[in-house]
Amino acid sequence: MGKTMEEEKKVKKLKKVPIRYLWDGMVLSDDLYNENGKVLFIKAGERITEKTIEQLRNLGTVDDCVMVCEEAYQEIMKQKDMPAEIQQKIVEDRFGYTKLKKEVQYFLGMIEHAAEVEYEGAEAVTEEVTKKIQGMDFQDFFRCINVPRKIDEGLQRHSLNIAFLNGMMGYWLKMPEEKIQMLVMAGLLHDIGKTRIPEQILLAPRKLTEEEYQIIKKHPVYSSELLDEQYDESVRDAVRHHHEKLDGSGYPDKLSGEKISVFARITSICDVYDAMVSERSYKEERLPFDILAKMKANEYPGLDEKLTVVFVNNMIRHFRKRKVMMSDGKMGIVAYIPPNDINHPVILTHGIAKQVNREWYCKKVLEE
Ligand SMILES: [Fe+2]
Repeated sequence: MGKTMEEEKKVKKLKKVPIRYLWDGMVLSDDLYNENGKVLFIKAGERITEKTIEQLRNLGTVDDCVMVCEEAYQEIMKQKDMPAEIQQKIVEDRFGYTKLKKEVQYFLGMIEHAAEVEYEGAEAVTEEVTKKIQGMDFQDFFRCINVPRKIDEGLQRHSLNIAFLNGMMGYWLKMPEEKIQMLVMAGLLHDIGKTRIPEQILLAPRKLTEEEYQIIKKHPVYSSELLDEQYDESVRDAVRHHHEKLDGSGYPDKLSGEKISVFARITSICDVYDAMVSERSYKEERLPFDILAKMKANEYPGLDEKLTVVFVNNMIRHFRKRKVMMSDGKMGIVAYIPPNDINHPVILTHGIAKQVNREWYCKKVLEE
């Protein structure tokens, strides 16, 4: 009887923690229980792995939460002090990006040994991405994509990001579900031809020779050749033509104007954004405001202006009310982003609204 009371006492002291706050590699100094504190899930000192987290998720606990004692609760909540890479991984696990990235990596790996991309693999990721876009946590999404990438992860991340961004454009343009799926698929597969380009060229950390550049320029053709007739014509077309420019100066077919499909135009826009946002800079983090401002000011010639405006205006909506760190070290909140002066947002600090300028500017977009 006494034991039960003791148990009940312990239950009362337990605190609720969402499973998404746990991360691969963490070791808690106290036990972890189910939602009513009666079933011990993980013992103190035991290493939590990705598999454990997956198992906990599959249990279908109430609110996807587990219970831990005060000490372990504090440890979990201290995650804000963790190294940036670990924080990044938590966000990516929570968003489901890690799982999708692995699936993309798997079918990109298959391409290296096959003449065609397995349709079922591409279709499965396409469906997951399309489903995820509805009701998506945009803050987590932007934290997954707005990061410099490790060289060996470049293609899988880029493929997945363009799948998401293409799909978002489909929603913003109020396209029917089937079209959105095709757009997602085109984004996912647009650069798969890069698996046919020698790594010493693809990953060369230097300016390419003209000859090497000509080899890189073959990748949209390779991408389309890897897609057999199971793939919709609109997907194959967008994949082949994502580097065409409206003025006819693009490649591989030097198409211009109306000859470039809407899907190909959208893929080009998303491609530019993702390439810019992930670019490594020795100075400071690349801010989405600056990239979006440049896109709107037509600094990337050849993109469809009307579609670029749709992309930019919808993207800036998601940066309103976000916390930012200013050049003087103060925290602020984005109060307003002037649609025609995107890189000069109005920032609220201590109740005072002020527009950024050359001396006082945003250094970093922060998480909530
Ligand atoms: Fe490309």
